[in-house]
Amino acid sequence: NRAELAEARRALGAHGGISRGTAELALVPTMGALHEGHRSLMRLAREQADHVAVSVFVNPLQFGPNEDFSRYPRTFDADLEVCAAEGVSLVFAPSADDMYLPDRQVGVSAGRMGAVAEGAFRPGHLDGVLTVVLKLFNLVRPDVAVFGQKDAQQLAMIRRMVADLDVPVAVVGGPTVREADGLALSSRNRYLSGDDRRAALSLSRALFAGAERRTPAEIRRAAREVLDGEPAVSLDYLILVDPATFEEVGDDHVGEAILAVAAKVGSTRLIDNVTVAL
Ligand code: PAJ
Repeated sequence: NRAELAEARRALGAHGGISRGTAELALVPTMGALHEGHRSLMRLAREQADHVAVSVFVNPLQFGPNEDFSRYPRTFDADLEVCAAEGVSLVFAPSADDMYLPDRQVGVSAGRMGAVAEGAFRPGHLDGVLTVVLKLFNLVRPDVAVFGQKDAQQLAMIRRMVADLDVPVAVVGGPTVREADGLALSSRNRYLSGDDRRAALSLSRALFAGAERRTPAEIRRAAREVLDGEPAVSLDYLILVDPATFEEVGDDHVGEAILAVAAKVGSTRLIDNVTVAL
């Protein structure tokens, strides 16, 4: 709980190392069910700071009423073993009561970027993410926080929050870890049946097909073609967007863009993305 956190945090020393050029504590926020993607972020965090903290909290605020909050995988004992194996100094795993006051009212609003892409299909989701991430920053007081590019819009929104609200934390992004066949690792992959698993592969195949093309129109068409060929995939969106705003890019866009996909395979909703240079 948060009292134990305060104790453990004190033992790690003062906050503010970043201003002296030596980060002391790096935080990796997670919802548990830890996999190799999370582990890669812990290793990246270790390169950034003397100590690594991991939070494990399935945040009710970021799940919609018809989403998978209650069936989200919870594997706390295994998660602790993963953290120990990665040399994590502090694991913060609060209860929902520990995190949220019963009469809480104030939260972070994700603004315009919170209403597009994921935000259009999951209303309030990015508000819930930003609110919990800001609370975790305030509780753990890390110098650095590490997030995965797998959730590209989440990462972009956290960078936006840190800039807009002058949050004294350096945000670092880590690359997406994939299975050998291309499927992006996700805690939700364990929901996939054998047939679902095969169908889910079309997400990364679509992104890789798009990434081989040169122009926005060709990229979108090539990716769409792969997904159209997979009837078991029910597409929420396939977008080619500006990495900073998540607005669709035009044909004259120069620089990087993110090709992102979200789809349901069976009852499991998956997201993935790649960065393309235009
Ligand atoms: P969760 O889905 O557990 O992810 C925790 C972190 O791991 C996020 O930064 C996510 O982008 C990263 N991650 C997930 N799969 C990855 C992969 N295959 N490769 C690399 N990194 C990967 O994202 C959340 O939790 C929550 O929204 C949270 C930020 C903890 C706020 O509740």
